[in-house]
Amino acid sequence: MSKAVFEAIDICKSFDERKILKDVTFSLHKSEIMAIVGKSGCGKTTLLRILANLELPDSGELLFDGQPQKNPTPNIIFIQQDYNQLLPWKSVINNVAYPAIATKKYSKEDAFRRAKELLEKMDLAEFVDYYPRELSGGMKQRVAIARALIMEPKILLLDEPFGAVDRESREKVYGIIKKLCNEYGTAVLLVTHNLQEAKNVAKKIIYFEANTVKIITSAEFNKIIGV
Ligand SMILES: Nc1ncnc2c1ncn2[C@@H]1O[C@H](COP(=O)(O)OP(=O)(O)O)[C@@H](O)[C@H]1O
Ligand SMILES: [Mg+2]
Repeated sequence: MSKAVFEAIDICKSFDERKILKDVTFSLHKSEIMAIVGKSGCGKTTLLRILANLELPDSGELLFDGQPQKNPTPNIIFIQQDYNQLLPWKSVINNVAYPAIATKKYSKEDAFRRAKELLEKMDLAEFVDYYPRELSGGMKQRVAIARALIMEPKILLLDEPFGAVDRESREKVYGIIKKLCNEYGTAVLLVTHNLQEAKNVAKKIIYFEANTVKIITSAEFNKIIGV
């Protein structure tokens, strides 16, 4: 297999002397999708926050392209659980184009062209001129994902992205994400409550169980969930 784009090595984190993460170790490769599964409160969001460098681990190391990674970077984009992360005063297309223009990744013209393409792929072509308050939760999440993908991040971290989205649309968006990850080489780590979804979308699963974290294959996961 190719060299890992991202490695977490022995990540530990406690809150108020309560151990939440213990020696979490895994690696992520280009275009790979991994799911994170576990009961509410087990530490899934904490793990994503640490991977995005929004929170420091008590110990352990994060390597990005083989180098220690200690600060937030546009190479690693974290889409939080909250649907309301879009700029409410900007239209959908302006929200998506904005980071590419602000960072000078693309000229204004190219940023709008890319934003339009991404929104078409996300099935949002009709909504480019809408404002966030006019969108459903699932649509806002898709806009947030398009806004992340315009930056062509190496890693996309998604925290329960489609909790409020119906099954059919969820499967469609996962299809789009898989396709775009292959196209851009982006690796994805996503938290989901839906066990079926986890094994459909990911070959490997970070499974929180009884204070331990295991990295298992979807075949091993099938045995655990009894299918
Ligand atoms: N900043 C914090 N300070 C204290 N405790 C926290 C903090 N963040 C999370 N926790 C605690 O850590 C545990 C794991 O939280 P979290 O990672 O949000 O779980 P999950 O996303 O799996 O539901 C919870 O018990 C939560 O209350
Ligand atoms: Mg959470």
